[in-house]
Amino acid sequence: MGAKAVGKSIALDAEAAENLQMEDFDGIRLAHRPDKARLIDLWLRLSADGHSADARYTLGPHASETAAGFIEGWVCGEQPAWVAVVGGEIVGFIVTKRAAPHTVLNLPETVVITDAYVLDEYRRQGMGRRLFAAVRDHALSEGVEALEVGTLASDHRAVSFWRSVGFGDWRVTLHLGLD
Ligand SMILES: CC(C)(COP(=O)(O)OP(=O)(O)OC[C@H]1O[C@@H](n2cnc3c(N)ncnc32)[C@H](O)[C@@H]1OP(=O)(O)O)[C@@H](O)C(=O)NCCC(=O)NCCS
Repeated sequence: MGAKAVGKSIALDAEAAENLQMEDFDGIRLAHRPDKARLIDLWLRLSADGHSADARYTLGPHASETAAGFIEGWVCGEQPAWVAVVGGEIVGFIVTKRAAPHTVLNLPETVVITDAYVLDEYRRQGMGRRLFAAVRDHALSEGVEALEVGTLASDHRAVSFWRSVGFGDWRVTLHLGLD
């Protein structure tokens, strides 16, 4: 999956268009350089959502600068990222990376979804599903056989969302605080 993935907006199918309340929905497209500042802002909101779901998920002091660095990779096509646009404004995004081949297990080619976010006021209108569809379609077109995503166990909304688009349990990360 690479920069050649430059995609077109995904047309609304009839059922989805019915669900969508936003008359100004422009579509889903790959992220590009002018999106960077907006994506940093949305990524900070995503992190705040993570903190609300589990207070251990807290950003460090230099998080914004670090984010600016890796978000550069999203907008230059190094790490494929799609944005959902309403009225010319980005209201959600999804980002992927190729998983490194496992050293021992015989796992299929896998793409990992590293981040996904939809602004609160645009949720439950199929926007997340649409962003996910862009990733799935692209992965299929690249011959990728599996997708993976990790999220906070306590974030029931996120877990429900991923299950709703077809994900099932694979690994579990366990945590033990020693303070
Ligand atoms: C998770 C998130 C991306 C979902 O986006 P969304 O646009 O609201 O998702 P959709 O409208 O496409 O929802 C698809 C399905 O997911 C499930 N779902 C979504 N939000 C849910 C919620 N709050 N509670 C239960 N199920 C939910 C439902 O099955 C829903 O279908 P339905 O509305 O027909 O019942 C969004 O809530 C979000 O940005 N959350 C904060 C960030 C986050 O958790 N990101 C993922 C972690 S990596």
